[in-house]
Amino acid sequence: MGSWPLPRKLVPLIAGMVLASALSHVHAAEPPATDFNVAVRPFLAQHCTKCHGERKQAGKLALHQLDGSLTSEKSRETWARIAEKLWLGEMPPEDEPRPSPHASGRVVSWLTAEFARAGHKLTPPPSLELPGGGNRVSHEALFAASTTPGTPPPATAARLWRVSPQIYDELLRGELGKNARGVTQPFSALTGEGFKDFAGAFTVDEPTTGLLLRNADAIVAAQTRFSYEAGKFKPAGNTMREFMALLDTNAPPTDVQLRAAIERQFKLVLRRSATAEEQERFLSFARKTMADAGQVTGARTTLAAVLLLPEAIFRSELGAGEPDAHGRRMLSSTELAAALSFALTDRPPDRALQTALDKGQFAASREAGEREVRRILADDTLAKPRILRFSREFFGYHLATEVFKDDKENKDHEARVLVSDTDRLVEFIVAQDRDVLGELLTTRKAFVNFAVDFKKKTPKRATENKKNFHVAYGLPADWQWTAEQPVELPAGQRAGILTQPSWLVAFSMNFDNHPITRGKWVRERLLGGTVPDLPITVDAQLPNTPEQTLRQRLEVTKAEYCWQCHQRMNPLGLPFEQFDHFGRFRTTERVQDKEATAANVDNKGKSRGPVFKEAPLDTRGVIALTGDIRLDGDVTDPLALIQKLAGSERVRLVFVRHAFRYWMGRNETLADAPVLKAADRAYVESGGSFKALLVSLLTSDAFLYRVNPSSRAASVSTAPP
Ligand code: HEC
Ligand code: HEC
Repeated sequence: MGSWPLPRKLVPLIAGMVLASALSHVHAAEPPATDFNVAVRPFLAQHCTKCHGERKQAGKLALHQLDGSLTSEKSRETWARIAEKLWLGEMPPEDEPRPSPHASGRVVSWLTAEFARAGHKLTPPPSLELPGGGNRVSHEALFAASTTPGTPPPATAARLWRVSPQIYDELLRGELGKNARGVTQPFSALTGEGFKDFAGAFTVDEPTTGLLLRNADAIVAAQTRFSYEAGKFKPAGNTMREFMALLDTNAPPTDVQLRAAIERQFKLVLRRSATAEEQERFLSFARKTMADAGQVTGARTTLAAVLLLPEAIFRSELGAGEPDAHGRRMLSSTELAAALSFALTDRPPDRALQTALDKGQFAASREAGEREVRRILADDTLAKPRILRFSREFFGYHLATEVFKDDKENKDHEARVLVSDTDRLVEFIVAQDRDVLGELLTTRKAFVNFAVDFKKKTPKRATENKKNFHVAYGLPADWQWTAEQPVELPAGQRAGILTQPSWLVAFSMNFDNHPITRGKWVRERLLGGTVPDLPITVDAQLPNTPEQTLRQRLEVTKAEYCWQCHQRMNPLGLPFEQFDHFGRFRTTERVQDKEATAANVDNKGKSRGPVFKEAPLDTRGVIALTGDIRLDGDVTDPLALIQKLAGSERVRLVFVRHAFRYWMGRNETLADAPVLKAADRAYVESGGSFKALLVSLLTSDAFLYRVNPSSRAASVSTAPP
């Protein structure tokens, strides 16, 4: 029996806290022993030794003599390299017959177990643990009719999930915030596109710890300001009675006063009472530090320690119950309550849930969890920013504000308003809760320059000074703004988020469209495919030929070397040439007129600048290499592309996979197949209800159960063919 070793890097350096003891209860069964000659040797012989064997040693690697022993460092290094290739699906090379994902998965499972047995840890390459790595798990294997024998039941590895910057912000928004001026955000989020908050993405490193300590000091200093006037103790600023009772050196605090202060700080920081055990621990800590460092410093250190509790910094998801037949443990009641709250809001359990917890009326179970999810979803007074954030991070339209556009080219452009318009549209569709993905992808409705007056709760224009802002949506210049929104956009021009100006701008360059990144987005987010990263050795430049259309300039990527990657992107992005790089619908493309420009000179022969002409627009595209023949084929324009995608079962399943990743804070593995299938069924059978999808995910085994972290790395499968 061993304990579940959480990655060392997770254990924060802070204040000698209770983490180690929190982890000590987690246990796991030993993985089953399987013979190398059964699990691995035949696989290598069938798929690898042709190139890594007696006759040939590609990459100077020979595999035919390996015996499965992991005692030497050298052998472990070799096996780790093999595991990585299998994990990433990079070996055998692409043009060779593919082993099934299960077959390579089995080898990786065997290796993971053997590494653990030898006292070492085999970890998947980081990309598999990060957003963007999820598509490496084979779609075909995930949704195969039958699961492979030996696949473990769904569960998530026991973990401490560092809180998001938003949760930290919320912490300071309450009563505590009055004393939080000058506090800096200690946590970062992932940058760029994609999901920002994955459990495996962040640790609390030394610089972060430094910031947390500084913040705790600053908050406590503000909470405990006082002075002496003529020798008499005088509270100052935003002070709390309970804290003031600790500070007067003429009247040292009693245990009762110390307990009251500790309780107050727990309520402020964690929004719950201190347990009896915590009361004792913090009381003796206070007594000790006051004796060592003096009354005031000791009191302040004690109050700061509450701010540095793991619970204030991590979402604890270790699983506390008795293990079931598969060695899985359910989250404790406290953990489940927090997990559900953080899944939908950025705050710890609300008053209703906390009260139920305190009174022992909320006991972790699937049914209790479902009741809470439904209650939180139905309660309009509880803000649920996580749903909108999912849609932003999935679609990426909010990145429009990060693309610089020259005012001279379009003085009506206002990225901020484009983004908030799309936010409103998403909220509208989510509130309707019918065929949500279909609506997001195909609706002709839009909010245009639409904001809600915060105080009066009435609609108003989001920007007053961009007179023709609405032209980006294809509305005529004389269109009259209305509070009756959403409005219908002109027929035959738009279909859903991918044709919202916000999305088009987010995936554009400063002075042009960006068909490559648009296509990449469709490939990854809707088709569940992958594109290798742009190699740093490639000089990624399009020819500087302003007399050509962008499609023509992209022809350079049809060179064989470039096309192996670019065929997965460009043909999916080019239909969006239907719009200019501000998102305006167009029927021709403006290019430089070479002859006219050459002739445009003054009488001294000096150029008077470029002359433009309109070139015919080509919006054709190709859906290919999807793994679904019903989907593959040519399309004439963006609307045809989108209609086809929106009607595809595969696209729906890929959307469910993304929702899973966002709400579990990790990528799916083959073991999660039943969870994904159930979530998809819940979505389909409810007529496309996003709430039904959420309820299914948040009551799934993957959400509720935890297992030994090292037992799970291996159930990851390899890349799609
Ligand atoms: C068709 C030939 C071929 C087959 C089959 C093949 N490989 Fe390779 N492998 C190569 C070549 C060529 C290289 C070196 C170039 C590279 O890294 O892409 C290589 C490199 C590797 C490396 C990297 C060595 C290093 O320098 O780190 C590993 C590990 C590897 N292969 C493992 C495997 C495994 C495991 C299999 C079977 C599942 C396999 N290969 C099947 C051709 C092959
Ligand atoms: C291994 C895959 C791969 C190969 C090979 C490749 N590219 Fe790319 N390329 C990419 C990816 C991925 C992107 C998108 C990068 C991003 O997300 O911005 C990209 C982006 C680009 C861009 C746009 C750069 C920008 O400003 O954002 C150009 C231009 C480009 N590639 C040209 C080429 C050319 C020319 C070749 C061949 C000489 C080539 N690429 C080969 C993967 C590849």
